[in-house]
Amino acid sequence: MKPNILVTREVFDETLAYLSQHCEVEANQQDMAFSPDALVQRLAGKDGVMCSLTDRIDAGLLSACPQIRAVANIAVGYNNIDLAACTARGVMATNTPGVLDDSTADLAWALMLATARRMTEVEGRIRAGEWTGWKLKQWLGVDVHHATLGIIGMGRIGQVIAKRAMGFDMKVIYSNRKRVAPDIEQRLNATYVSRDELLKQADFVVLQVPYSPETHHLIGAAELKAMKPTAILINSTRGGVVDDAALIAALTNGTLRGAGLDVFENEPKLNPGFLQLKNVVLTPHIGSSTEATRRAMAMTAAKNLVAALTGGTPPNLLNPEVTK
Ligand code: GLV
Repeated sequence: MKPNILVTREVFDETLAYLSQHCEVEANQQDMAFSPDALVQRLAGKDGVMCSLTDRIDAGLLSACPQIRAVANIAVGYNNIDLAACTARGVMATNTPGVLDDSTADLAWALMLATARRMTEVEGRIRAGEWTGWKLKQWLGVDVHHATLGIIGMGRIGQVIAKRAMGFDMKVIYSNRKRVAPDIEQRLNATYVSRDELLKQADFVVLQVPYSPETHHLIGAAELKAMKPTAILINSTRGGVVDDAALIAALTNGTLRGAGLDVFENEPKLNPGFLQLKNVVLTPHIGSSTEATRRAMAMTAAKNLVAALTGGTPPNLLNPEVTK
């Protein structure tokens, strides 16, 4: 008998076709986000779930759905899943690392360039008919090339961001829980520094740490104050890594030049303070959102789920201890 699964949000046709070869699939191609109660109801009798970062998979849900054996997230970040609760119940949990590194790094770069050159602000001015002609001192931005890039979190995506910086002749510094291997540092021309040092030196601070209780408000009022007033902050990792209210205060009183943000606290209800500011570039959590990458993420999650439910070991198993 094929295992029963729920796919909580809309996916691509080829994702469903692959899943249907191996599983009895309940899909949600209308893409209605389920409330926590509706999710529990839909999961009755299901062996596995393919979910997204908008679904909270926690101890309560797992105890209400004790037959669940596998949870496959269509995301690399998995702060929406209580991994300890999965492990305690012997539920395999998976994510989608690797396939989104380049696209997510590209978006961080897009935000860096757009914020430095004030692209959304000046586009708004053109659209509003405010451009009356060329002027020498018009809407001056700052250079990205030859500036100092500080990357907090030098995992896979952080490393791709650093690699792109070579083409811009930037000085790259980074901080990380652990220093990366010397050959990686050498290849990326990146220097390990303390977080305090990074905040003091960087012209662009790019955050690439996962969200967890340890990284909650990693950048708050004190860290923003430690940055150069001419610096730009980029957050394309997860809302909550930055204290958004403190960031709005720093951007409002000019203690920070600008910010490029793809993620926010309480998404999608972002702090309305951001909407009043000209020195921010805002995008709606689209870091990995290219056609090719989202297709690859969905298929990666599908393969993880099928492997978990058909006796295999999923390639991206987050809690291998459950297989022992
Ligand atoms: C997207 O935000 C992801 O974690 O994949």
